[in-house]
Amino acid sequence: MSYISMNLVTMFYLIASVCFIQALKGLSSPATARTGNAFGMSGMAIATVTTVALIFKLQAQAASSGGLGFSLVLLGVVVGGGIGAYAAKKVEMTKMPELVAAMHSLIGLAAVCIAVAVVAEPWVFQITTAGVALPFGNRLELFIGTFVGAVTFSGSVIAFGKLSGKYKFRLFQGAPVSFPGQHMLNLGIAIALIALGLVFCFAPGVEPAWTPFILMAVLAFILGVLIIIPIGGADMPVVVSMLNSYSGWAAAGIGFSLNNSMLIIAGSLVGSSGAILSYIMCKAMNRSFFNVILGGFGGDPAAAATGGAQEQRPVKSGSADDAAFIMSNAETVIIVPGYGLAVARAQHSLKELVEKLTHKGVIVKYAIHPVAGRMPGHMNVLLAEAEVPYDQVYEMEDINGEFGQADVVLVLGANDVVNPAAKDPKSPIAGMPILEAYKAKSIIVNKRSMASGYAGLDNDLFYQANTMMVFGDAKKVIEAMVKAVD
Ligand code: TAP
Repeated sequence: MSYISMNLVTMFYLIASVCFIQALKGLSSPATARTGNAFGMSGMAIATVTTVALIFKLQAQAASSGGLGFSLVLLGVVVGGGIGAYAAKKVEMTKMPELVAAMHSLIGLAAVCIAVAVVAEPWVFQITTAGVALPFGNRLELFIGTFVGAVTFSGSVIAFGKLSGKYKFRLFQGAPVSFPGQHMLNLGIAIALIALGLVFCFAPGVEPAWTPFILMAVLAFILGVLIIIPIGGADMPVVVSMLNSYSGWAAAGIGFSLNNSMLIIAGSLVGSSGAILSYIMCKAMNRSFFNVILGGFGGDPAAAATGGAQEQRPVKSGSADDAAFIMSNAETVIIVPGYGLAVARAQHSLKELVEKLTHKGVIVKYAIHPVAGRMPGHMNVLLAEAEVPYDQVYEMEDINGEFGQADVVLVLGANDVVNPAAKDPKSPIAGMPILEAYKAKSIIVNKRSMASGYAGLDNDLFYQANTMMVFGDAKKVIEAMVKAVD
């Protein structure tokens, strides 16, 4: 029987890598996202089949020494793949971040398990021959890979709990958990980890130094919990993308140890794209990365308190009918969707409203803020779900210049992303780029109350003389507008 040659393995891994790069390119725009996904799925299918063929070959070569458990591998692929497909099919769009967190925890755990297997029997992975000690470089890679994998695992489990908001366990609550000396404890653990790393990497003899290795893994699991618990629930999307990055680096680290180019390339792509995404999200929220990691306004109890009790100021309010009348008589309307629109699941009714307005000759555009909602691309995904044409959807940089000429801006369940307080250097959101809705001739805001948004701040836009508030759930209000436009 002939087995796959190493040249073929390299070639298929190269094809899969090109697919992954094309996937990232495609996913950078809603118009090409489906093609990007198709590339990603094809790349993963090629990589998985090639790896299974490679394992089959290695199994045959090692058959005399007990084999590699090929059937177990196949069982893992079928069971794991089945659970993953079922979970992805069932998940609601708003629950996507917690699904991603759960998946990352598994990647972290897989990295730890592989590293333990390699440390125990490096000759099975053809890193050394039996009776020869692991070289320094491999020890270092395995130590770092296990550390990053363990932090990713426990950190992602906490992130999953916080995002789901379903569990009573204190560490799974959205509110940050902090205690005196927390940062010092983290620092102490980090120093202990470096010391354990040195002992593990420089240990003499053929037998691996299990004690520092296991101690490191336990401390890394604890550190993963400690660095995520002080972060407020609303900051979790940044944390998830950061853990995404960690899981990629963990996979790349293990790829170096196993000498597997596919793991190195795919891991580096995940690691760097996750890091870039975290950076983009922090920048769009005007937060420093360290501010998020060390716990910030996402979970600030003071901010939350302000959000609960706003000072009483008069606002002008109107009905859905009034709003429909104003929009029907406008030439241009810009719609700003926000988190509330996603909560109300009002995207389909919104599309209907826009179709009716367009039919009446009104020019309607959607303005998307990069961090509107609670996950990257949240509004794009929401509008794509309702099959809103891409040419009506504008990114912040492209539409901000048009607010001054717009007759009407319709703000739907958005708050922070249109808060002019960002222009005030003393505001907690100072410097955050916003959609400049306040410049429009007429502003209509739909939300249920005067409550604050994620940042816990009052919004002067709601009190402007040319603003009309339409209170109510976004879906009900938009449905009423649709009827009124007739
Ligand atoms: P927010 O500032 O959070 O405001 C959403 C508003 O929607 C709330 O004020 C709420 O007011 C209203 N709302 C809730 N349910 C509603 C419903 N059923 N119908 C109508 N309105 C409803 O949202 P935004 O403007 O989209 O800004 C996003 C915020 O999240 C930013 O501060 C951003 O920094 C932060 N954030 C974003 C991300 C990503 S990646 N997107 C990640 C982390 C944090 P009522 O309760 O009065 O209705």
